Amino acid sequence: MRTRLVAGNWKMHTTVREAHDLAAGVRDRLAAADGADVVVCPPFTALAEVGRTLAGSPIELGAQDVHWESHGAFTGEISAPMLWDLGCTYVIVGHSERRHLLGEDDETVRRKVAAALAHELIPILCVGESLEERDGGRTERVVQTQVRIATLDVPPDQAGQLVIAYEPVWAIGTGRPATGAEAGRVAGLLRGWLREWFGEAAEAIRILYGGSVTPETIGEFAAQPEVDGALVGGASLDADAFARIVWAVATKDSSGAP
Ligand code: 13P
Repeated sequence: MRTRLVAGNWKMHTTVREAHDLAAGVRDRLAAADGADVVVCPPFTALAEVGRTLAGSPIELGAQDVHWESHGAFTGEISAPMLWDLGCTYVIVGHSERRHLLGEDDETVRRKVAAALAHELIPILCVGESLEERDGGRTERVVQTQVRIATLDVPPDQAGQLVIAYEPVWAIGTGRPATGAEAGRVAGLLRGWLREWFGEAAEAIRILYGGSVTPETIGEFAAQPEVDGALVGGASLDADAFARIVWAVATKDSSGAP
């Protein structure tokens, strides 16, 4: 009942020209993609161009962050109505790089999730434990707290729109992904908590895995029943690799080959 989803987080990469070329490459490879929703999240500066490049294709546009207010004196920030105006349908919220490198806390993430939903953007809420938290046996508590606080303002009738990306910090950009079993275990726990908080709506919430996902590693994650897709960093900067990941998720084919 949940449509699988693959999101590419381009992070702070690509000029406008490079973003155009990458988006065109993804678009051309995935023209007939079905079996999974696909979204690319370029930097803010390339959103308009990538939106034009993807026009008429099934690939959707997402941003990497959003401010919680819709307008005002917030120098350097970008609001949900501005993203919507550019054609965005998704926005990443609470990415670990923002939490750990830029000081974003759970309270901030909560406000951003609410702002996204209030303006018809689907939040991709990122959660995950650090290596220290994992080694200390605190994974469950950390992930549960992050999701609980972030979703406190989500009305039950909107909860089904949420996307949650479990991205263990130690797996991001390290070439050392979690195992499929680890990702599946945390996704299962997440589903259980979401049921407690949101009832039936929890069944519609998509749970992604992120952290060193490649065409070679995606099969393990795609095979997990509670994992509904992937949030891809480095490999999303290569149109071929990204398309192979989408293919593997869409078909649940562990070979990852189109
Ligand atoms: P990598 O796929 O490069 O590990 O990054 C994951 C990520 O942070 C996606 O948001």
